[in-house]
Amino acid sequence: VEICKGINGLEKVILREVRSSAEVYLYGGHVTSWKNDHGEELLFVSSKAQFKPPKAIRGGIPICFPQFGGQGNLEQHGFARNKIWSIESDPPPFPTVNSNKAFVDLILKPTEDDIKTWPHSYEFRLRITLGPGGDLMLTSRIRNTNTDGKPFTFTFAYHTYFSVSDISEVRVEGLETIDYLDNLQNRERFTEQGDAITFEGEVDKVYVSTPTKIAILDHEKKRTFVLRKDGLPDAVVWNPWDKKAKAMADFGDDEYKHMLSFQLLQRPAGSTKGSPVQLKKDSILSGAISCTECMS
Ligand code: BG6
Repeated sequence: VEICKGINGLEKVILREVRSSAEVYLYGGHVTSWKNDHGEELLFVSSKAQFKPPKAIRGGIPICFPQFGGQGNLEQHGFARNKIWSIESDPPPFPTVNSNKAFVDLILKPTEDDIKTWPHSYEFRLRITLGPGGDLMLTSRIRNTNTDGKPFTFTFAYHTYFSVSDISEVRVEGLETIDYLDNLQNRERFTEQGDAITFEGEVDKVYVSTPTKIAILDHEKKRTFVLRKDGLPDAVVWNPWDKKAKAMADFGDDEYKHMLSFQLLQRPAGSTKGSPVQLKKDSILSGAISCTECMS
């Protein structure tokens, strides 16, 4: 584990395992790079991404907390992706501890100013691990530390952007027959048909109560990303396609062809309205993902 200055002087942590590596910016607690043992980048980061607070970094794995999306009172996807996280040298034990792996522990706690925006005290611990086989794992533990004993409600997500060779050649397996809310159709609820999902245009769907294992197959690269998750029932599949891509200042016009955003989301399973999770004082909610790259 190495700490150094990244783009615009923002601090980043580099994790290395044999020949694979990952990079994590303290700004946002944001994974911006995950490379396999051939040095190939597996995450998408826009060439126009601004590494400039308070703008969130476009690509990698933004952490959305305490609100996912734009439906609550806070800014879109909450504020955690716009804060500088700290490295925690002596964290309490995580359920997934494995001392043979490269990992870093980050923590986010509210400042007095933050409490004016969201009146709750919390500890958000994030462990980012690179396994010996090059797997990338993120484990979050969110704890309610409100001194008045009050519960709080929130949603949280890993807003993962995967790098793909050509979105038209990508298939997602594991979401067949699952219900989804279509963000492009007033969050109306539909059921996915029996086949693997393919992409021919803009998509922004929230799949509810998804299986713990989902695969993203990149036909051209002969690469499969296998996602395993724990405690994150919903999954958002998003690609802005050409028109929306052009409207985003920090996203290249044609870059939509080379990314698939697959977001793992915490909220009650089967919820149709996306009602947030309630967390009691001193309770902890965890959510983990592991991403594995396999070649076929
Ligand atoms: C996705 C949403 O989660 O995030 C999309 O479903 C949204 O609607 C996208 O456009 C990107 O959001 P942002 O705030 O990072 O531009």
